[in-house]
Amino acid sequence: MALKKFPEKFLWGAASAAYQIEGAWNEDGKGESIWDRFTHRQHTILNSGNGDITCNHYHQMPEDVALMKELGLQSYRFSISWSRVIPQGYGNINEKGIDFYNRLVDKLLEAGIVPNITLNHWDLPQAIQDAGGWPNRDITDWFAEYAGLMFSRLGDRVTLWSTHNEPWVAAFFGYGFGNFAPGIADFSQAYQTAHHLLLAHGKALQVFRQGGYQGELGIVLNFSHFEPATHNEADIAACRRIYENTISLFLEPLFKGRYPEMLFEWIGSHAPKVQDGDMAIISQPIDFLGVNYYFTDAISFTPWGGLLKYDSKPISASGWGKTEMGWGINPAGFKAVLLDIKENYGNPKIYITENGCALKDTPDTNGFVSDPNRINFLRAHFLAAHDAIEEGVNLHGYYIWTLMDNFEWAHGYKPRFGLVRVEYETGKRIPKQSAKWYSEVIAGNGFQE
Ligand code: FCB
Repeated sequence: MALKKFPEKFLWGAASAAYQIEGAWNEDGKGESIWDRFTHRQHTILNSGNGDITCNHYHQMPEDVALMKELGLQSYRFSISWSRVIPQGYGNINEKGIDFYNRLVDKLLEAGIVPNITLNHWDLPQAIQDAGGWPNRDITDWFAEYAGLMFSRLGDRVTLWSTHNEPWVAAFFGYGFGNFAPGIADFSQAYQTAHHLLLAHGKALQVFRQGGYQGELGIVLNFSHFEPATHNEADIAACRRIYENTISLFLEPLFKGRYPEMLFEWIGSHAPKVQDGDMAIISQPIDFLGVNYYFTDAISFTPWGGLLKYDSKPISASGWGKTEMGWGINPAGFKAVLLDIKENYGNPKIYITENGCALKDTPDTNGFVSDPNRINFLRAHFLAAHDAIEEGVNLHGYYIWTLMDNFEWAHGYKPRFGLVRVEYETGKRIPKQSAKWYSEVIAGNGFQE
């Protein structure tokens, strides 16, 4: 068994998102978000779950930070609820909301934990949706104002920022397929959303640079590894389309200042309206790229496969099965994603901003979960990341999704991704076996293979 050590100053952490953990959905002046509206509708969430209370982190925050300290986390990635700090999305500021994030940041710093903030983890203020949402170009300025507010209030202490989490999901699940908030099914709106998310990112980045803030600003994207299901030309082309629609759609504008040509020919009139100068704003250099990776898919062509005419099936590496989400476990796919970014997009600085798994957890009578499979999953993905670093990938940190079990969007409370178990009836947190194992990895900056 070899000891796998990570580079010095490698940052180990865990991630979360406001809507998934905070609760307090209408307290202390918070405005309604599209996720509040969406989950309060029927037939949107498994078992009618919602984030009204969820982990109650808004009230249990000091205890949660103490837990992070106990686990030895070096960094904590969380998001800000836009409608908690600016209830209507623009205009009036809610000082009580800002105060919550001020206290959170101070507590983290006291505990020696580096805060890593995501400005948009999907919970758009409902008032902005009422004004047209992400497809309305005005949002790019509203987002930049919101970003500027947060930089000005927290930028003296926070040095790691991301504009968006997984803009692909916000655009396509939110506006293309309609299975996430705001629940709109219209591909033209989805592509316009993708463009406005990128433009909003670029405008926020300008505010960050002009303000002279110390620290790093990046964007977090969802990556999967895609393989054609067969060697048939049609499957290979479908796989290319899905790669372009998921990955190049964001990486090409960000790193090359253009949209992927083949994809845009394919989608035709669904392509977004782009104005002169937009691509220059979008492609200003970022400080890091946040990589979320969960699974690998085999892609095939099918004539009844929607706009992009494809079908996808999970691929697990041999000896590995699927997670509770039905996602194919494939650490080699993770490494392939990292090498692709290195080779084709200029080897940017990377943080793994999310990686983890939902598994069937069976607590004992004390609520303790032995989860050797989660440990195996993490170890195999750490190893893939370690290999990637040895092959020159510019990787500087790793955040596990997620600190504690929480509200998993349309899947409600069924999937449990946490290092820490949450008993929702009482709000009790109980670290799982994997949390203890992860503490040791952090303490040793490495693990036994
Ligand atoms: C990602 C999301 C995160 C969580 C994980 C499981 O797509 O960013 O909020 O739901 O998946």
